[in-house]
Amino acid sequence: MRRPASSTASTFPSAREISSDLSSLLSRDWANIEAGLYVAPEQQWPNPIRILKKARAYFRDLQKVNQRIVTGNSREVAHSLHNTSLPAYYLQNFHFQTDGYLSEASADLYDYQVEVLFSGGAETMRRQALIPLRAAFCDKNIRDVNVLDLACGTGRFMATIKQNYPRLAVSGIDLSAPYLRLAKQNLIHWSRFKLVHGNGESLPFSNESFDAVSCIYLFHELPRPVRRNVTNEIYRVLKPKGRLIFVDSLQPGDHPPFDSLLAHFPHATHEPFYTDFLNDDLEHLFCSADFKIHSLERAFFSRIMTLVKQ
Ligand SMILES: C[S@@+](CC[C@H](N)C(=O)[O-])C[C@H]1O[C@@H](n2cnc3c(N)ncnc32)[C@H](O)[C@@H]1O
Repeated sequence: MRRPASSTASTFPSAREISSDLSSLLSRDWANIEAGLYVAPEQQWPNPIRILKKARAYFRDLQKVNQRIVTGNSREVAHSLHNTSLPAYYLQNFHFQTDGYLSEASADLYDYQVEVLFSGGAETMRRQALIPLRAAFCDKNIRDVNVLDLACGTGRFMATIKQNYPRLAVSGIDLSAPYLRLAKQNLIHWSRFKLVHGNGESLPFSNESFDAVSCIYLFHELPRPVRRNVTNEIYRVLKPKGRLIFVDSLQPGDHPPFDSLLAHFPHATHEPFYTDFLNDDLEHLFCSADFKIHSLERAFFSRIMTLVKQ
C-alpha cells in the first residue's frame, strides 16, 4: 500500500480538496459526540480576547520563524545550551520554532501553531484517539485502569482524556520541562494525573504497569533508532494485551491525494526526521516488537493505529 516518499512533489491537492477533507473530519467528530462516544470539547467557544492575544503573539513570533526559514538556522537551541543531558537530536528548532521545545514562550505558542498548521483540525484529529482508547478499557473498572501519554507535550490530550474519564489515572511524560509546566496548568482542575520529566527511550516505569499508552505526533520527530527504542519501551511498560494508541502523520499511500504534500512538508519547515519517517515501515517496526496491529484508520492528515501487546 505504501509508496516511497519522493521530494519531487507532483500536483498538490487544492485548497478545496483539503477543506472538504477537514469538513468530513469535523462532521465525523460531531457525529461521535452526538453518539456519546466522547464529550464535546470544553472550550467550544473560547474567550475571544484570549484567542486574539494568542494570535498577536503568534504573528509576532512568525517574523523570527520566517527569518530562520530564510537563513536555514535550525541550531539556535543547540548553541544556547551547554552541559545538557538532553539527546542531541532534540536540540534543534523543530518547525523553526523559537527556542525549540525548550522555553515557556515556546510552550505557550505551541498549541496555537499546531492548530494553524492543520487549519484548525489538530485537536479534532487528536480527539479521534479517544475511540480506540475507550475500547482499550471498556471491559475494565475505570478506577483500576492506568494510561500513559508518551510525549504529552502541553497536556492537551491528557486534558481531553480527563474531561471524558475524570476517575481514570493518567500519567504523562515528556522531555520538555517547560511544556510539562504548561501541562500542569492545563490539568489544574483534575486529579489522578501525574507528569514526569523523562525520555521515552528509557521510561521510568516498571514492566507491565499500563493498560494503554497513547503516543501522539512523536515518531515523525525521532531518528529511526530512537523510534525503535521508544517502541520497545512502550512494549515493556504495557500489560499483556495492553494497547498502544498511535497517532502520527499519514504515510505515502494512506491517502494518495495528500502524498505530494507529505513529501513537500519537510522542505517547507524544519522536520529533520520526517522524510525518514515517511519511508519507515511502521507495520514492520511494531510487529518486530511483538505488537499485533488491531486497527488502522485515517483522520485528515493523521494515521491512527491501535496495536496490541502479544
Ligand atoms: C510534536 S510534539 C507532540 C506533543 C503532543 N503529543 C501533541 O499531541 O501535541 C512532540 C513532543 O515530543 C517530545 N519528545 C521528543 N522526544 C522525546 C523523547 N525521547 N521522550 C519524550 N518526549 C519526547 C517533545 O518534547 C514534544 O513535546
